[in-house]
Amino acid sequence: KLIVAAGCALAMMAGTVQAKDWKEIRIAFDVPYEPFEYRDDEGNLTGFEVELAEAMCEELDANCEFVIQAWDGMIPGLQARKFDAIMSSMSITPERAERVLFSEPYYNTPGGWFAREDFDTDVTDMDAMEGKTVGVQRGTTMDTYVTENMGGVVTIKRYTTADDMVLDLEGQRLDVVFVDYPVGEQTILSKDGFKEVGEPVKLGEGVGVAMRKRDKELAEMVNKALATLKEDGTYDAIMEKYFAY
Ligand code: ARG
Repeated sequence: KLIVAAGCALAMMAGTVQAKDWKEIRIAFDVPYEPFEYRDDEGNLTGFEVELAEAMCEELDANCEFVIQAWDGMIPGLQARKFDAIMSSMSITPERAERVLFSEPYYNTPGGWFAREDFDTDVTDMDAMEGKTVGVQRGTTMDTYVTENMGGVVTIKRYTTADDMVLDLEGQRLDVVFVDYPVGEQTILSKDGFKEVGEPVKLGEGVGVAMRKRDKELAEMVNKALATLKEDGTYDAIMEKYFAY
């Protein structure tokens, strides 16, 4: 009996049985995705979700480590325990909810269409769109939408990072970019020579923190912290800072 008890104690110390107290939380961001997560001029990680994560960690009295992870490896990285939570404007969809546990939504973003000023095609007119080139970030809700609704009509270019896609729009290698609306607004419309085309498309049921299915306690803590930040005005203050227009 004694030996069994000692074995148990060892296993607990090794962290295999012990319940996590979540005093350390590793959170993943795909950068750059301005205004959600990006680097400022000094190279510091910043953005709406970065500050929200900082406020959340303070509220939880947790030591947080921020991990940079490419978008296409987000859910695999979470499952492989490279980090504990994703805060990368991940839209809540039924397909993803089968693999991860989402917090309550903390933001809402439709997909927006952006093009150079001289683009004059109706993006909803599939005859007119025939042969046009549309850029999306690979594995996003925008990718799924374009694949399902325009596949075989337009040429779809899939990018690993959002900034490469914007560069290709500028360099005329793309006709249209389909990206989370605030990202297009701040990284494309902020420059001369571009415009929004068509109507934004609702995709997903808001954006949430994604966690492993089994980490229900963490999800509860995160939901509580988010609710507190919404109540005490912190959330609104961060919103105003990054979604100023
Ligand atoms: N909201 C979109 C989705 O959930 C795109 C998110 C991409 N996020 C990022 N940080 N690159 O699929």
